[in-house]
Amino acid sequence: MEKYIINGGNKLYGGVKIQTAKNSVLPILAAAVLTDEKVRIKNAPCISDVKNMVRILGSLGCRAAYEGDDIVIDSSAADCHEVPRTLAHELRSSVFLLGPLIARFGRAKIAYPGGCDIGLRPVDLHLNGLKRLGVKIRESNGYILCECPGLRGNEIMLDCPSVGATENIMLAAVRAEGETVIKNAAREPEIEDLQKFLNSMGCKVRGAGSGTIAVQGTAAKLRGGDYQPMADRIEAGTFLIAAAMCGGEIVAEGISSENISSLLHKLRENGCKIHTKNDKIILKRDGPLISVKSIETQPYPGFPTDLQAQMTALCCICRGQSIVTENLFETRFKYVPELCKMGADITVAGRNAFVRGREKFNGATVVACDLRGGAALVLAALAAEGRSEVLDISHTDRGYGMFEYKLRSLGADIVRAAV
Ligand code: UD1
Repeated sequence: MEKYIINGGNKLYGGVKIQTAKNSVLPILAAAVLTDEKVRIKNAPCISDVKNMVRILGSLGCRAAYEGDDIVIDSSAADCHEVPRTLAHELRSSVFLLGPLIARFGRAKIAYPGGCDIGLRPVDLHLNGLKRLGVKIRESNGYILCECPGLRGNEIMLDCPSVGATENIMLAAVRAEGETVIKNAAREPEIEDLQKFLNSMGCKVRGAGSGTIAVQGTAAKLRGGDYQPMADRIEAGTFLIAAAMCGGEIVAEGISSENISSLLHKLRENGCKIHTKNDKIILKRDGPLISVKSIETQPYPGFPTDLQAQMTALCCICRGQSIVTENLFETRFKYVPELCKMGADITVAGRNAFVRGREKFNGATVVACDLRGGAALVLAALAAEGRSEVLDISHTDRGYGMFEYKLRSLGADIVRAAV
């Protein structure tokens, strides 16, 4: 087990190159099972969620490995439709493989997925959508067993715009006979990226980015090729919030500001000066932090749940009070007691966190309990007075590649150490 040791109080200055998006790369890795040709995912992030997905592809008989900064996948020898329980438990996104495995083998077996413990996170919308395409589903002994000799296109109405369910259905529908129309689809930019990748393979998908996605199934051979997925808007948001909390001036490079406009809007209200130039976002904070009245997580283009914890940490050191409302996941305030050890004044009631701002965090030893909550603790420690230790950083390793190197290059005092 490893930890971060952080001496807080340094302002952050400089440029930081934003990694390729975790939430784009994971479904694209799953999509690579659909072709026998080689796929090269360029500049793949070096994070444990992606490494685990690569291991899962290996267990299916694909050859998948990092080659320098890229990941190369050759699925021509894939011969297994079953995702082992131990690997599925490591990674919720293993569920994305249901669609491609059914499309390729006519069947799939996968253990109920793991991932961040941030709420119930059911997969009923994934399964109901697949059933509408003709898949027969049984659940037995913690496994989901799917069978379908031939997928048929259909209209699917999602009860809520689930990112994962939208992607899983797209991944199966590309091989269905006829057209599939997904209504109330999620509109996240990563879904547009998946559409772009699928179309580069020769699939016919349109409408991603809107609430209705149409997939025309094809039996034709699908192509491989090189693909550069989009930049990670959550990593970019995390660095921008870090600079807002610590003060200073940073440039997030390689990121579209449009994809995090809900965050930039809030950070401006907090008193940060932000301007954008091509694919750069420049944030400067030299005055006091002003509280925003409320932050409420919503599906895209609303405020992302994946930045809720980091933003709550920022609210803690603003003048005034804020209410943070988490609408997507039930237990996404588990980091709050840890932040309180650092002096935060927060009361959680159901979906709301009531935050009373104070001037500073104090250093403390805290434990990360999920990916984004862990990032919030790191940010609080960077802005704190004194020394902190953030334990169990395997959580932040799931989504932030080279985290401490990047923070150090901006001037932070942070090192990784064995516990
Ligand atoms: C994806 C992201 C995750 C982000 C989340 C919301 C990836 C790999 N992960 O997760 O980082 O926090 O979107 O933006 O892209 N739901 C159901 N039944 C289902 C599926 C979802 O009720 O079958 C509910 C969930 O409990 C949650 C809501 O729908 O309340 C949204 O979840 P969803 O969009 O599916 O999140 P993920 O795809 O798991």
